[in-house]
Amino acid sequence: MVQTMRRVSLPVVTAAPQMAARQAYADAIDPNEATGALRDAEARSITYVRISVTDRCNYRCGYCMPKDAATPSAFAARADLLQFEEIATLVTTFAAMGVTKIRLTGGEPLVRADIEQLVAMLAPLVPRVVMTTNGHLLAQKASALAAAGLRGVNVSLDTLDPVAFAEVTGGGDVAAVIAGIDAALAAGLTVKLNAVLDSPARLAEAADLCEFAWERGISPRFIEKMPLSAGAFVTSAPFVSAAGLRQQLTAAFGKLEPQTPRLGDDGPARYWQMASSPTHAFGVISAISDHFCATCNRVRVTATGALHTCLGYDDAVDLRALLRGGDPALVRRAIHAAVAQKRVGHIFGDDGTGGPQKHMIAMGG
Ligand code: 5AD
Ligand code: SF4
Repeated sequence: MVQTMRRVSLPVVTAAPQMAARQAYADAIDPNEATGALRDAEARSITYVRISVTDRCNYRCGYCMPKDAATPSAFAARADLLQFEEIATLVTTFAAMGVTKIRLTGGEPLVRADIEQLVAMLAPLVPRVVMTTNGHLLAQKASALAAAGLRGVNVSLDTLDPVAFAEVTGGGDVAAVIAGIDAALAAGLTVKLNAVLDSPARLAEAADLCEFAWERGISPRFIEKMPLSAGAFVTSAPFVSAAGLRQQLTAAFGKLEPQTPRLGDDGPARYWQMASSPTHAFGVISAISDHFCATCNRVRVTATGALHTCLGYDDAVDLRALLRGGDPALVRRAIHAAVAQKRVGHIFGDDGTGGPQKHMIAMGG
């Protein structure tokens, strides 16, 4: 049932707010609503926060950061990043509001120095701390991350072919990523594999990715490409849909059947299995062709502390300025007010329309 909640008018800023805007955050929401569980105007509970720890990445996937944005000046200065203590303060605040899962993202989170120390700081604060990574540095870091309390990693893997992989990722090394995946499994981390459906050429390799994942006891997940960066990278390649993927995998493996949704950690993925072998399954994240906004449970914080309550819009609230302002009540009110204003859902088209200006690299997926 959709519960009607008072809509508050929240000023949306991306730059550091002036005092007047800060005051407006505080005034925008009844202080009595600024404690307790996070619920939006669509009665969605927010229990999952994705926190980017850097906007830099050692790879250059074309669907994540358009080529013309790949200049160093586009990246945040060190002093503008949230410090580990500030991230821990935010996580404590979110945990008190009922958040149970934190995902560290980037850019590439493993390029942030001492990331395992951050994991060790956050792990006691919330039931689950996990990470999304390109896997390039994972072989070196997996056991330290697991020892620090990390529970799982989502690793991006679009193709197993070394030449194609280097092309897709702007110079990435698939052997390093595979070593990282195996190190993560050996360290006892839960491993998920994500592939973006970027082009029909990549689609032809989906069956190989399934075999690779199945050998390791993993159900791979295929993600429809979303048009961030004002659609810059979508218009250049034809859209590949979840239905196209299922068709491809039916041709490779025979009849598929939908799995009943598993309880727990599936998120927006819908899983399909081979009719002849139910343990052989894969997930599809059909963000465009069959979106899941009605059950969205997440918000995102960028590396510079901007709270984005929906991936599909440029709306953001500068939590860093509030954190550095020293009044925890203002931070809590700003979070509640922003969540109250969370968009009903995105309006992405498969032709590159309807997306925000912002880049996925700053959002962490
Ligand atoms: N559409 C969908 N998924 C994307 N990712 C990056 N850019 C896009 C996009 N445009 C995914 C990556 C990775 C995670 C960080 O986000 O594949 O799994
Ligand atoms: Fe949630 Fe917005 Fe993504 Fe829809 S587009 S699933 S509402 S973050």
